[in-house]
Amino acid sequence: KLILILNGPNLNLLGTRQPEVYGGDTLADVERDCAAQAAELGLDVQFQQSNHEGALVEMIQEARETSAGIIINPAAYSHTSVAILDALNMFDGPVLEVHISNIHKREAFRHHSYISARADGVIAGFGVEGYQLALRRMASLLG
Ligand code: DQA
Repeated sequence: KLILILNGPNLNLLGTRQPEVYGGDTLADVERDCAAQAAELGLDVQFQQSNHEGALVEMIQEARETSAGIIINPAAYSHTSVAILDALNMFDGPVLEVHISNIHKREAFRHHSYISARADGVIAGFGVEGYQLALRRMASLLG
């Protein structure tokens, strides 16, 4: 079963971007750890990142044909994007939302995520380990 792991804007700069908030691991490190974890769980992963809202919408639309589940860190679009929520609402499988930082401990504008209205689970504040936890949960949800 293929799981799409989707990362939104500015996460391409993970590792150099505010390491005091997001940690020192790069997105390539996260991708490598997810691939290893997925192999243990018997899942395949497709790892993608975009800084563009429409590109993320198109990746979610494509996942309707290709993927059993989606793990998404929508980054700043969490707090703004009805378009990403609408795209996820057309996806039939499990959707898990990951935030590296604890968005509830931060500025008020980060406390609300449009995506959480669709997510089957939300992880925030577990650092990049959140992706591994989401993969484990995805394996249980997909049985
Ligand atoms: C984030 C939190 C968002 O508020 C922020 O805009 C991000 C990353 C996180 O992973 O903690 O870009 O989604």
